[in-house]
Amino acid sequence: MSEFKRLNVGVIGTGWVGGIRANACAQNPLVDQLHIAEIDPKRQAEIAAETDPTSITDDWQTLIDDASIDLIVIAMTPETARFPIVMAALEAGKHVFVEKPIAPSIAEAEQAYALAASKDLKISIGYSRRFDPRYVYVRKALMDGVIGEPVTCLISRHSTRELGEKITGRSKMSPTSIGGVHDLDFILWCLQPRKPVRVYSQQAGKLFSQKSDTPDHQWVMVTMDDGTTITVGIGWILPAGYPNFVQAWIEVIGTDGALTIDDTHKEVQFNTVKDGIRYPMSSMPGEAVDHVFAGAMYDETKHFLEAVAYGRPAMVTSDEAIQVMELYNAADLSAERGEPVLLPRNDASTG
Ligand SMILES: NC(=O)c1ccc[n+]([C@@H]2O[C@H](COP(=O)([O-])OP(=O)(O)OC[C@H]3O[C@@H](n4cnc5c(N)ncnc54)[C@H](O)[C@@H]3O)[C@@H](O)[C@H]2O)c1
Repeated sequence: MSEFKRLNVGVIGTGWVGGIRANACAQNPLVDQLHIAEIDPKRQAEIAAETDPTSITDDWQTLIDDASIDLIVIAMTPETARFPIVMAALEAGKHVFVEKPIAPSIAEAEQAYALAASKDLKISIGYSRRFDPRYVYVRKALMDGVIGEPVTCLISRHSTRELGEKITGRSKMSPTSIGGVHDLDFILWCLQPRKPVRVYSQQAGKLFSQKSDTPDHQWVMVTMDDGTTITVGIGWILPAGYPNFVQAWIEVIGTDGALTIDDTHKEVQFNTVKDGIRYPMSSMPGEAVDHVFAGAMYDETKHFLEAVAYGRPAMVTSDEAIQVMELYNAADLSAERGEPVLLPRNDASTG
């Protein structure tokens, strides 16, 4: 058995996702103390009842100033306010797990990675699809050459409009940069060491655009350096199916076969006179259901705790994170210009 040290963990922001992370930490034997920063008093009371934390505060700086805390999970919103907390936690010598995006710009993300490296601290981003066994199976099959050479990949993901309204209400980000980013990370991870060289994107907006300039949907077409094509679509205006309902359909077609994930979350349904048909196991991160978690977030949180406790590498390297940022920035630029955008850093012909 490897040597390890139990960890004191701070979670900043315990809404939907931070709440799952806090519960995952509270249930993990690697965690000694759990400290929470949450500004909403109602949510504070709920999460305190669920996790029995050592301390709870409405000021995240208290957690940064606490020298006994080893690791900080950052899940507060809005996304645009997160980067100073990432840097403060690293400055204070704490390992950091942050929900995407890690920073508003590539330059700032690089700053965070450089600081973490200089202090020998681990930093990772919540790309939870990497911990869904179905997705991991597809990656393994591709890496093992089960379908030969990949030719083309499609990921189409939609969430309900209530989730779309929640996301678009707190910060102005494109569907790809806040939602499609999971799928871009997953497919680039599957296709390594291939790199993206060109992207074309189009957005459509007929509903949310009446209230804001946020699109309803975005398609992103990517060409990889070996000619493999990827199409990723993300939208957030489905009618209600269940709180936080998300459905996705994934196809990877190769020279010797095809892989498909039906991630539409329709396998469990209930039908009531009051609400009609509902899909209860349908959220992407997967809430706790009694003694188990319905999605990948428990395992993802556990992986990072273990990486810190045992000194193992954490998933999502800085190069991978930066490549995904380059890609969604280029996609948003393409949508704005209405023309394809090259990814010069990855394109040998353009340096
Ligand atoms: N990995 C996944 O599958 C996945 C899915 C959805 C969202 N996410 C990520 O999770 C993040 C959080 O989303 P959410 O749906 O949980 O949001 P949320 O609104 O439900 O939760 C945010 C929480 O942060 C709290 N908060 C705000 N400012 C704070 C502050 N200064 N200090 C402490 N707490 C503060 C709010 O009170 C709220 O409880 C998103 O930004 C997104 O990046 C990841």
